[in-house]
Amino acid sequence: MRILVTGGAGFIGSNFIRYVFDKNMSCEIVNLDKLSYAGNLENLKDIEKNENYTFMKGDICDHKTVEKAIKGCDYVVNFAAESHVDRSIHGADEFIMSNVLGTNVLLEKARMNGVSKFIQISTDEVYGSIENGSFTEDSVLAPNSPYSASKAAAEHMCRAYFVTFGLPVVITRSSNNFGPYQYPEKFVALSITNLIEGKKIPLYGDGKNVRDWLYVEDNCDGIYFVLNKGAAGEVYNIAGGYEMMNIDMVHDIVRAAGGDRSMIEYVKDRLGHDRRYSLDDSKLRDMGWKPNHTFKEALDKTVKWYEDHRDWWMKIKHKDTYKKYYTKQYKGKD
Ligand code: NAD
Ligand code: TYD
Repeated sequence: MRILVTGGAGFIGSNFIRYVFDKNMSCEIVNLDKLSYAGNLENLKDIEKNENYTFMKGDICDHKTVEKAIKGCDYVVNFAAESHVDRSIHGADEFIMSNVLGTNVLLEKARMNGVSKFIQISTDEVYGSIENGSFTEDSVLAPNSPYSASKAAAEHMCRAYFVTFGLPVVITRSSNNFGPYQYPEKFVALSITNLIEGKKIPLYGDGKNVRDWLYVEDNCDGIYFVLNKGAAGEVYNIAGGYEMMNIDMVHDIVRAAGGDRSMIEYVKDRLGHDRRYSLDDSKLRDMGWKPNHTFKEALDKTVKWYEDHRDWWMKIKHKDTYKKYYTKQYKGKD
């Protein structure tokens, strides 16, 4: 089995590559990643010498690059994307390029190369916000941010390739992930690393927006399950089953990381901030899948990982001043 993983140097992609090799040592993986600000080869240091692993630096929007990367691959798992809502509010061009055009190039090359399954990694954000109840896979898509709109557009291209050309495309829509190797601009990674640095946690608006939280390893497990058992043309929600208001999430983080609540600072709200995401993932659970971690276990593991890997995130958060800062504050602690 040979898999083309795109965006494998990012947060979920790198966890997925590690997960697949843990499950199946003989699997071959080609990781195509352009190494945007969010791509980091340090996420895969322990994997890079594996003889079944190949890294290719390149853009999924580039036909020739994708043609080369996809040769001989049975499966494609497309993680590559611009993934941060706040960045999409400041400018959406990159989101349209990578998330929509990039997906289109991959679909076309997958079709021409007879790929047996194409997994599109999408998000619960394509449904938009829901006040009560939960979204099923049949709910109408109503994305509200430039990020989620670009992910919904990519999904429509996937559907079109399935219907028009019979390309066996399967879509996963997961809730908010957290865990090791998450870029520290996202809420959980930012909150934990700020606390470790003695900085306040910025909480948008009234802090009562609700998200469902999924440990990244459980998402990888769900994606692998779908890779093996998902039916062509189908969509699968993947949820953690831990829905909570952001303020409650922060309280849990503060508890797990040993801070206090004075470290929370209410700041101006995000534009168009979706109030609540909620997924009904009974379709996947009825097929026999469920997450393996409780929320508490997963959060404790995550906090410990950031405590134990200061070097990894300090380099990202303090790119310019890293050397000076790191030496002064944390010498000898990694
Ligand atoms: P990330 O930002 O950490 O990583 C994205 C990776 O894609 C980076 O390594 C980047 O270099 C690469 N990339 C971006 N554009 C590329 C291009 N044009 N060509 C090649 N590589 C490119 O993102 P993540 O959080 O790991 O998310 C991965 C996927 O999962 C995304 O598609 C995202 O929409 C989806 N998703 C994320 C979450 C979440 O909570 N993080 C939840 C649901 C779905
Ligand atoms: P985020 O991690 O950006 O994921 P998404 O917007 O894709 O759900 O944010 C998660 C939630 O946390 C979201 O409701 C916005 C909120 N948030 C803050 O309150 N403060 C922050 O600094 C960030 C980045 C997010």
